[in-house]
Amino acid sequence: MQTVDIPALQDAALSALAAASSSKELEQVRVAVLGKKGSLTQVLRGMGEVPKEQRASLGALVNVARETIEAALAGRAAELAEREMETALQSEAVDVTLPGRTRTIGSEHLISRLTREIVEVFRGIGYRVVEGPEVETEYYNFTALNAPPDHPSRGLQDTFYVRDRSGTASRVAGESEVLLRSQTSPVQVRIMEEEAPPIYILAPGRVYRRDVADPSHLPQFTQIEGLVVDEGISFAQLKGTLEYFCREVFGPERSTRFRPHFFPFTEPSAEVDVSCGICGGAGCRFCGHTGWLEILGCGMVDPNVFGFVNIDTTRYQGFAFGLGIERIACLKYDVPDLRMLLEGDMRFLRQF
Ligand code: DAH
Repeated sequence: MQTVDIPALQDAALSALAAASSSKELEQVRVAVLGKKGSLTQVLRGMGEVPKEQRASLGALVNVARETIEAALAGRAAELAEREMETALQSEAVDVTLPGRTRTIGSEHLISRLTREIVEVFRGIGYRVVEGPEVETEYYNFTALNAPPDHPSRGLQDTFYVRDRSGTASRVAGESEVLLRSQTSPVQVRIMEEEAPPIYILAPGRVYRRDVADPSHLPQFTQIEGLVVDEGISFAQLKGTLEYFCREVFGPERSTRFRPHFFPFTEPSAEVDVSCGICGGAGCRFCGHTGWLEILGCGMVDPNVFGFVNIDTTRYQGFAFGLGIERIACLKYDVPDLRMLLEGDMRFLRQF
C-alpha cells in the first residue's frame, strides 16, 4: 500500500473543517474524512497491509489524527449550530412590542382656573383668602346679614334646609335652622366676628339654591365674596376696586357700569354690568338686547350688619361684593348655557 502522509491528511481535514460555513458543509467534510469511504477510514482499513513493524507507530499517529479531527469537528459543529440558531432567531423573529400608551395630560377645569385667576387679582392688591362652612345656620346666612324674617329667599322654595330630626316645635315640619348656604356672604359675618379691622378678605366657595338647572341657573355653583372693613372706606374705593377687577378679568376692551340695586346687607347697593362680548354693547340675544351683562352685586356694608358683629360704625366703614364664577366664565367666554360647564364634554372643556 502506498504510504499516506497522516499529518498532512490531518491538516487538510482541519482546514476543511474550519472552512465549512454551514452544518451541511461540515457534514460533507465529516463524510469525506471519517465516513465509510473517508480518507482516514481508508487508512484504518488498510492497516492490515501495513508491515508489522510500522503498524504500531502508524496506528498511534492515525488515532491521534482521528481524535484531533473528531474534537475539531465537534467544536466546529457547535459553533455553526449556534450561529445558525441565531440567524434563524433573527430572521424568524416576530415583533411583539406594543405601541406605547400616550398619557393624556389633564388640565384644570375652567371654573377652578377662573377662581384662581380672580383670587390672584385680589391677592395682588392685598386681599387674603378665607373659607367658611357650606352647611350654615340661618343666623349667618340670613339674620346677621340683615335679611328680614319674611324674606322670600329664606323659604323652603329657595333654600335647601337640612332636616332637623330633633323637631323644633316652633318650626314647620322638616325646616330647621341648618341649611346649605345660598351665598358666600355668611363668611363676612364669621370673619367680622373673629377679627378686628382692617379686614381685606376674599372667600371663594360653593353655594346651593333650590333652582332647576337651566341656561342661567344651577342648583349648585361657585361664588367669590369680597369684604373690606377699614377706616375711611368709601363707595369711590369700591368702584375703583371693582373696575380694576373687571379690567383684569375681562380685558380693557369691555366696559363696565354700576346700576343701583338692593341687597339687605349693603346700603347703598349696586349691580355691576360688563358690556356684552358678543355684540360689543349694540344689543343681541345673548345680552337680552340690552348690550350689558350683570356680573356681580356689591355695596357699602349696612350698619345693621356691623351691629350684629359689634364693629364701631363711627370709626369703620366697609364694602362688600359677591360674584358667581360660573356666570363670569360664561360671560367672559361667550358660553350661552351655564350647564355646559358641568357636563364634562371634553370637546367643550378642551377649548379653555
Ligand atoms: N350674596 C349676593 C348673592 O348671592 C351677592 C352679593 C351682593 C354679595 C352684594 C355681596 C354684596 O357681598 O355686597 O346674590
